Amino acid sequence: MSYRITQVDLAVDAAEKAAIMPPLDARWLTEGPLARAFQEKIATLTGARHVFFAPNGTLGLFLAALALEPRPGDEILIPSFTFYGSATAAHYAGFKPVFVDVDPETFAVAADQFEAAIGPATRALMPVHIYGQCCDMAPIVDLARGRGLAIIEDAAQALSVTLDGKSAGTFGDIGVFSLFSDKTITTGEGGILVTDDDAIAERIRLIRNQGRPNSGTFVHPSLGMNFRITDLQAAIGLAQFGKLPAILADRERKRVRYSDGLAGVGDLRFMKRIRGSTIVPFRFPILTAQREALANSLEAAGIQTRGFFYPMHLQPKLRQENQPSLPVSERLSREGLCLPVHVHVTDGQLDDIVGTIRRHFGA
Ligand SMILES: Cc1ncc(COP(=O)(O)O)c(C=O)c1O
Repeated sequence: MSYRITQVDLAVDAAEKAAIMPPLDARWLTEGPLARAFQEKIATLTGARHVFFAPNGTLGLFLAALALEPRPGDEILIPSFTFYGSATAAHYAGFKPVFVDVDPETFAVAADQFEAAIGPATRALMPVHIYGQCCDMAPIVDLARGRGLAIIEDAAQALSVTLDGKSAGTFGDIGVFSLFSDKTITTGEGGILVTDDDAIAERIRLIRNQGRPNSGTFVHPSLGMNFRITDLQAAIGLAQFGKLPAILADRERKRVRYSDGLAGVGDLRFMKRIRGSTIVPFRFPILTAQREALANSLEAAGIQTRGFFYPMHLQPKLRQENQPSLPVSERLSREGLCLPVHVHVTDGQLDDIVGTIRRHFGA
């Protein structure tokens, strides 16, 4: 079906087209000077000491988990309400993912949910900064430090989100952002790792570059693979980075317009703000007991919708024996619907979406 208003669209134009010409002219396409320039922009944005790229956010999380050097049986606690890649990245790196529930109002995991699930094999926590706001990190960091646990922050949806002025992704040991096409800025596919820990950074540096500090040698002191990106992606990333202030302002305006237009309509409920966090809407998420019917009304009007994540603890290949129910993640998955916030949704279209929803509820 073709939609009048799609869920995802890209903020790419002549700037990205112009940006990819210099690496082509220079005949340098693999990770090189433009990747270093993009790395510096991300270091400035996040304040992180070390920045690395990965081919996508999922492989970024995989690389982060590998850098923690899990031993057999080590468990990592992950909110059930997240994208599949959070869990599979940890799994393939050698962790056993153990799922915890999230807060019904912020949709984010909090320290008490992690704390209740800590067991003798727990080695790490993975807070996920969901729908563009940052988890309440201070209690999570205190918990992890007190119990000797590592933290990988899944900040895939949270580039440029801050908590009390500090970038999401920089509270734990490693943070990972995604540059996939539906993210705040995109390189098509892409991932970013940030860490302030020199020893972890060194491990990431080696693992992502075939186990050696530099290319050009065939002696590989460490185990490693290839997680490099191309300078074509970095060129697009730099062009996108230049648009970040405009994209943030646009998304904030859309968030406010949706919030105002939908307040008090039907049984709609919205994501509650986490104190101290900025919100960079990844989508505009809403909850309603009439999720299916509302989605049908929107789709009939040519507006593409997207549901929420299906819980990790119910995924066919991740489900564990004697898995307790995680009711909040299950309910979010049943009741959640995402509305588009990309730059090509015009004010008129957004009002059209709001109007369609209001009519659905007879408001
Ligand atoms: C919470 C979360 N984690 C991880 C990922 C994986 O990122 P990527 O699509 O770049 O592999 C995503 C992507 O949608 C995500 O939303």
